[in-house]
Amino acid sequence: MFQQLDYSGEKTKDYELLIKQLDALSTGETNQTALLANASSLLNHFLDDVNWVGFYLSENEELVLGPFQGLPACIRIPFGKGVCGTAVSENKTQRIADVHQFPGHIACDGASKSEIVIPISRNNNIIGVLDIDSPIHDRFDAADQEGLEKFVTQLEKHL
Ligand code: SME
Repeated sequence: MFQQLDYSGEKTKDYELLIKQLDALSTGETNQTALLANASSLLNHFLDDVNWVGFYLSENEELVLGPFQGLPACIRIPFGKGVCGTAVSENKTQRIADVHQFPGHIACDGASKSEIVIPISRNNNIIGVLDIDSPIHDRFDAADQEGLEKFVTQLEKHL
């Protein structure tokens, strides 16, 4: 079912390939937990130097932990708090080179140094976020942001 593909090392191309894999894994399925579980696994295998990849889902002005790969994490994050809650309140990707410089950053895994959080929407409502942590400072560049935002846009079509 899952085919390991040869990535070229060229980010734009490789994210396109990754999005094709997401489609192959997701088409025909509607169960949100299953779709997000496979999406987190796919990202975890594709991305180098990440220590946490997963989803938080919106529920009553809070984000609640969803499918993920990595160490156990905090379960509830109020909208507006931490990097994840800020991505929701600003409805904007947060690409943080140094989490220790982010006021209110919530440390779930002490090894995390940089982080990217992308809001996920359905019918103009934010239904959750994709959160990725790295133990490397400034791990995510503009090409990663673009590729991951496209990944989320494609994922939204399956949710
Ligand atoms: N660092 C996040 C919390 C979630 S963990 O990274 C898995 C934040 O500040 O919102």
